Amino acid sequence: MTIPFLKPSSRPGEEQHRRVVRLFISKDAAAVAVGADLIAAAIASSAAASSLPVEITRTGSRGMLWLEPLVEIECDGVRYGFGPIEPDVLGSLLNAGLLRAELKRLIAHPASLGPVDKIDYLARQTRLTFSRCGIADPLSLEAYRALGGGKGLEKALSLTPAAIVDEVTKSGLRGRGGAGFPTGIKWKTVHEATGEQKYVVCNADEGDSGTFADRMLMEGDPFLLIEGMTIAGLAVGARKGLIYVRSEYPHAIVALKAAIATARRVGLLGPDVAGSKRAFDVEVRTGAGAYVCGEETALLESLEGRRGIVRAKPPLPAHKGLFGQPTVINNVLSFAAVPFILSEGANAYADYGMGRSRGTMPIQLAGNIRHGGLFETAFGITLGELIDDIGGGTASGRPVRAVQVGGPLGAYFPRALFDTPFDYEAFAARDGLIGHGGVVVFDDTVDMAKQARFAMEFCALESCGKCTPCRIGSTRGVETIDRIIRGEDRAAGLTALEDLCHTMKFGSLCALGGFTPYPVMSALTHFPEDFGAPHPSLPRLRGRVREGGCGKGQRERTRGRNQT
Ligand SMILES: Cc1cc2nc3c(=O)[nH]c(=O)nc-3n(C[C@H](O)[C@H](O)[C@H](O)COP(=O)(O)O)c2cc1C
Ligand code: SF4
Repeated sequence: MTIPFLKPSSRPGEEQHRRVVRLFISKDAAAVAVGADLIAAAIASSAAASSLPVEITRTGSRGMLWLEPLVEIECDGVRYGFGPIEPDVLGSLLNAGLLRAELKRLIAHPASLGPVDKIDYLARQTRLTFSRCGIADPLSLEAYRALGGGKGLEKALSLTPAAIVDEVTKSGLRGRGGAGFPTGIKWKTVHEATGEQKYVVCNADEGDSGTFADRMLMEGDPFLLIEGMTIAGLAVGARKGLIYVRSEYPHAIVALKAAIATARRVGLLGPDVAGSKRAFDVEVRTGAGAYVCGEETALLESLEGRRGIVRAKPPLPAHKGLFGQPTVINNVLSFAAVPFILSEGANAYADYGMGRSRGTMPIQLAGNIRHGGLFETAFGITLGELIDDIGGGTASGRPVRAVQVGGPLGAYFPRALFDTPFDYEAFAARDGLIGHGGVVVFDDTVDMAKQARFAMEFCALESCGKCTPCRIGSTRGVETIDRIIRGEDRAAGLTALEDLCHTMKFGSLCALGGFTPYPVMSALTHFPEDFGAPHPSLPRLRGRVREGGCGKGQRERTRGRNQT
């Protein structure tokens, strides 16, 4: 890579025994995708050519994706950031004395961000789960421990399995994979179940649009996930854990495998976890790229070597899961929240949040947004604060028109609903869901009829085919929306679409078919103008969405189907 305007870095007669300059650059896939490897290599070769003692630590991500590649330098214990550092900016940063840590000159550089901890986006977060991410080498167990890692497991080893389950229950932690089911109750069920061999399965399929928190955590703090899963194993009496990672996450797979090997080597995994005489080990399994394989029973089918098709419940995976044995299935973020709960106590976690949404949520800001990235905060922040204030509005500079929260099955919210707090119940009350915390922003150029069509098309493409409302309904949905868009007997089309959504919501076996009506109906309810002339039955449509369709009754039923 060429670095324009780079002057020679070493000066004649410069003392040889300088202090080592410590730099930090993320190796997270999102940073690598915008050139972080190239920047790190260019800095390393420049340091080598100048014989300057520079140490570059490749870290996880800070989650401020619009600032990547982000280069940090440590001076007197403070980390100063510079970003985004494109190749054409790097030359001037090096010329400003990066390799000699000439702080005064560096701070005056146009890409200077000041102390990283003080950047508003980071300073305003409550990082309980992502507290270490972006700080150190994710594969250094030493760094993990120095930054507080391992204390949760230590505490868990001093408790009985039932006491661990109690602590998780008291924390109020709810599954972060989408359904929001209380983690403690799930663990209790498996703890009380009998089986020759119990399993702990981590759902790292992360297929929701605009989400990347699982990936960021697996790449940026893999020991945390291993610790959380080990605690789950101790709690429920499982000796075996499996992490089901989507194949599109090669960096995460490499990081996890390396961290598992280290954990085995030092005895944190294996037949005698941390000298406790209790066994637990973890393996990584790679998915084959189907969205539905994120659904827990389809995931189990896939893990067992079959095509990912949803299983009817009961039996719940907690009773008969992997290979028919009692199985805990949790999302990456659910497991990753557990070490904090154990080390700091259930109350310390439950003190954050609102209502029945306790603790923090790693929210992922994506789509057309200026400051896209990961923002971990206590439940309760409003959608408007997230989009306008934290996210800085759209990247295009145009007005925000719609926001889809909760992945491809989540509702579209118009600006009028921006006062909705990030909370499971508050979103549900407005016919939405927070799901895995993905927030995708659209500006005023979006065509919501096309988005509704996309939702149906996505469902048709990803349907496992087991039940008719989803398998056939989604294709009929695409055809119906096409007719509406073309203006062919729009009134009849809208009525048919409404009925179809109703059937899918109430007749589908899992949330893929059952929740696809959320984006469709919310687009129709909040943006009727994109579907042509207002339809006489729209007020009734709204009523029905609240009552049953996307409303509480259906949500409770679908959540019930999702429970383990
Ligand atoms: C179509 C579909 C896709 C899903 N994808 C995921 C996923 O990628 N990751 C995930 O953790 N949960 C996903 N879920 C939810 C899981 O079925 C399950 O509720 C979750 O793994 C339980 O873990 P939790 O309690 O920690 O959230 C999906 C559900 C459905 C219906
Ligand atoms: S709703 Fe769709 S994905 Fe779910 S079981 Fe039925 S066909 Fe399969």
